[in-house]
Amino acid sequence: MTSATQQLTVELHERSYPIDIGAELLHRTPLFPALPKQLLLVTNAPINALYGETVRRALAAHHVITYCIGDSEHAKGIDTYAAVLDTLIQHSFNRDCAIIALGGGVVGDLAGFVAATYQRGVAFYQIPTTLLAQVDSSVGGKTAINHSGGKNLIGAFHQPQAVLIDTTCLASLPLRDYVCGLAEMVKYGIIADGDFFTWLEQHSAALMARDPHALQTAIYRSCAIKAEIVAKDEREQSVRALLNLGHTFGHAIETEFTSTWKHGEAVAAGIMIAATLMVQQGRLQLTDQQRIERLLEQFQLPTRAPMMSFDRWQTLLQRDKKVQAGTVRLVVPTAIGQAQVEPWSDWQAIQQAIVSMSSATAKTR
Ligand code: GLY
Repeated sequence: MTSATQQLTVELHERSYPIDIGAELLHRTPLFPALPKQLLLVTNAPINALYGETVRRALAAHHVITYCIGDSEHAKGIDTYAAVLDTLIQHSFNRDCAIIALGGGVVGDLAGFVAATYQRGVAFYQIPTTLLAQVDSSVGGKTAINHSGGKNLIGAFHQPQAVLIDTTCLASLPLRDYVCGLAEMVKYGIIADGDFFTWLEQHSAALMARDPHALQTAIYRSCAIKAEIVAKDEREQSVRALLNLGHTFGHAIETEFTSTWKHGEAVAAGIMIAATLMVQQGRLQLTDQQRIERLLEQFQLPTRAPMMSFDRWQTLLQRDKKVQAGTVRLVVPTAIGQAQVEPWSDWQAIQQAIVSMSSATAKTR
């Protein structure tokens, strides 16, 4: 038996929107209420092969053009962005059209940025198919493409009209991609909800087995935490920055080891560096850091960063969008369920934490 569909709302006044979470939702008709006639479905070839027909069947009453982008981070560039815009223009899409993203974070970020900018903004819908996109990137309205000078350097806040999370899609997700989503769940527990962290500890085996009930509960809770934070701070002027726990260090790892480290893996190692920094400062109990490490290990995520010279670390950390006048802004956990954002200029302390959490044998799967 599958769990009933659950709904929660991202409360943003006139831009509020629902997130529906359940099994087999791709089959439902209508897929979303009040969709316009002209629709561009942005996806990639593997996802199109798995779910494209199902989604197009549910959209049979509409005029749907499908555009497949490449299946990697490289697809999130200016060339693909321009090519999707060309398609909209060639097919005379007007301002009443909508863009639907069907896929993971790359598809969602790119399709969202197209929606944010085509004719100064058109309606956007998200159907995330990876766990990471379901619990993080599809919620909150961050859209972006990459530039050769860095990831997500060109972007906009553009909230979707609705998010549809079909948990059935997760059954076919490769293990490495699946656990990357679990890393973001661990992050939510640390920054905002110690009870959820404990729940994750208690249900780690069920989550690794992709038990549908455990998964739906965890996705719902993760989206609820993110929705609450986004509702308080849509444009990341304050508390939304907490969602970057582990990401400042993680982005450095991802940039240097693009071909071998995935986003969630780098975030997991980054969370360990941030937690260790706090233990070394006497501001996080060692037992809390050990609980974090154990949970990440249970999710088969890396807990050590790969070796990199500290000069290189410093260069990469200073490229972070949050750096101001040489001071990096770090998200630091002070307990399980509590974190804060702090300007940090003590590079020696950062180096000490990185050195103790790096290993020549650190690896992804
Ligand atoms: N992924 C972090 C955020 O949406 O703010």
